[in-house]
Amino acid sequence: MRTINIKAGSGESNIYLGEKLENLRSYLPDGKKVVILTDANILKHYAAQLQGFPVVEIGLGEKNKTMKTLEHIFEEFIRLEVDRSTFIVAVGGGIVCDVTGYAASSFMRGLKFGFVSTTLLSQVDASVGGKNGVNFQGYKNMVGVFAQPEFVICDVSMFKTLDRKEFISGFAEIIKAAAIRDKELFAYLETNAEKALNLDEEVLEKLIYESVRIKATVVQNDEKEKGERRILNFGHTFAHSIEKNLGILHGEAVSIGMVLASKASVKLGMLSQTEADRIEKVLVDYKLPVKLLLDKNKVYDAVLKDKKRDGDYINLIVLSGLGNGVVQKVHIKDMEEIVNDLC
Ligand SMILES: NC(=O)c1ccc[n+]([C@@H]2O[C@H](COP(=O)([O-])OP(=O)(O)OC[C@H]3O[C@@H](n4cnc5c(N)ncnc54)[C@H](O)[C@@H]3O)[C@@H](O)[C@H]2O)c1
Ligand SMILES: [Zn+2]
Repeated sequence: MRTINIKAGSGESNIYLGEKLENLRSYLPDGKKVVILTDANILKHYAAQLQGFPVVEIGLGEKNKTMKTLEHIFEEFIRLEVDRSTFIVAVGGGIVCDVTGYAASSFMRGLKFGFVSTTLLSQVDASVGGKNGVNFQGYKNMVGVFAQPEFVICDVSMFKTLDRKEFISGFAEIIKAAAIRDKELFAYLETNAEKALNLDEEVLEKLIYESVRIKATVVQNDEKEKGERRILNFGHTFAHSIEKNLGILHGEAVSIGMVLASKASVKLGMLSQTEADRIEKVLVDYKLPVKLLLDKNKVYDAVLKDKKRDGDYINLIVLSGLGNGVVQKVHIKDMEEIVNDLC
């Protein structure tokens, strides 16, 4: 097992990688009431391991990441006589963890909470960094708080029951982490695709460990996203619009977004064609999509609406060589040209 400690303005958190759900009890505070928040898919496969705890079930999918679900959780908390000493645990993917983190940090002005993170995406991304929240009136993650869980248990054996597409989608964020910060990890990804896709626990633990380490370092330096944290958005400028328009998984959209962002990096003279080709090839090796027929007007529209826009400039995350993500100010006129070229 490997442990990563995260210290941030909003608190401290320990991530236990390679730990198992069945050891959850040893992380819980002695003699305190514990309430589990989870969803139907986890209950279907892991109800036996959660026996003895009161459970609050959250509906499946992004459409349930809402204030209404929060209200349901608070009603359940009152019914279960949750008080300030109660400890809350999320067992699930990014949705369960994001909602639970927010519910726990706002109920009675804040209860302690921990995560058992059960998807590849949530282990490498959603449960690291202290962002919690819900969607509001169609705006993603519009309402929420920064708060760190006391612990995050990452049990890679739980991927066995995870939908294959969901599993594959998680690799996009690992490839992203390598592309922006770690050339060696990128090479490791290139040589271990088959093992990783076959659920080799040692390879998965190494990949998750390194990506969490990268995200943790960036987040520790810039928790509230004033500067460096923005490089974590590599591939995301285009991804958000692709995801919304085509209804594909976040990781799939990030994959296509990274291909576009590396092409833009080549066009800006910052990345070699060979390196851009390596990025595209590794995405293909991990069975991620790299091409889509995109409507350039829609992409350009989305780029203009990007919330990180800065007047007439877009802050595009590009690669200045593989392993080195940087924020590049690009004028919207040049951006139009880039999008024209890419779509
Ligand atoms: N807080 C952050 O920094 C952050 C970062 C990235 C993403 N997110 C959020 O994470 C969410 C996406 O998370 P996700 O991809 O984990 O999706 P998810 O939570 O919807 O999980 C995907 C699906 O897999 C099921 N599932 C989860 N674990 C399983 C397992 N081990 N076995 C069988 N089924 C399982 C779930 O029930 C769900 O149907 C989004 O809402 C996104 O905004 C947050
Ligand atoms: Zn992402």
